[in-house]
Amino acid sequence: MEQFATTVADLAQKLAAILAEQVGFKSNFFQENCLSSTCYLRMNRYPPCPTHPEVFGLMPHTDSDFLTILYQDEVGGLQLVKDGKWFAVKPNPEALIVNIGDLFQAWSNDVYKSVQHRVVTNPRVERFSTAYFLCPSYDTEIQSFYEPSVYKKFSFRVYRQQVQDDVKKLGRKVGLPRFLV
Ligand code: OGA
Ligand code: NI
Repeated sequence: MEQFATTVADLAQKLAAILAEQVGFKSNFFQENCLSSTCYLRMNRYPPCPTHPEVFGLMPHTDSDFLTILYQDEVGGLQLVKDGKWFAVKPNPEALIVNIGDLFQAWSNDVYKSVQHRVVTNPRVERFSTAYFLCPSYDTEIQSFYEPSVYKKFSFRVYRQQVQDDVKKLGRKVGLPRFLV
């Protein structure tokens, strides 16, 4: 776990820097704000679910971070939205999956879009995945470097709190639309 975390932490920093540079922003923003103490690794286990094909392993969502690096085993079940349709992400033991999260979308003023994804269950086989979330400290203010900005400036703390409140009250995450200017 420690080795995996160290390796993907380095990869996440490199990818974030490259993506930022692509949109004309060269800085050490990610190195300064996304620290090993603020990023985290989540290990998911999806037990077999024979009862109902409509039961999700994970509900449709976008990740509330800058970017996510995901490793999935050979079972499969991860799906993502492209052009309004759900597509299965074919398992490849040699590959890592990189998802853009909400914070990168806000920070890049919608140049990069966070991807809707979900996990469907398998009736017979259990599944494992490991996700590394590139997150800033709670006090970090997320603000686009383009004008006019699509989203209001918000701290990661406020964003997380809003997501939690919405899930509690509405049963679902609203996400970035809450922070439109
Ligand atoms: C997540 C996630 C996908 C998977 O943890 O946010 O989307 O394949 N995981 O487990
Ligand atoms: Ni996710």
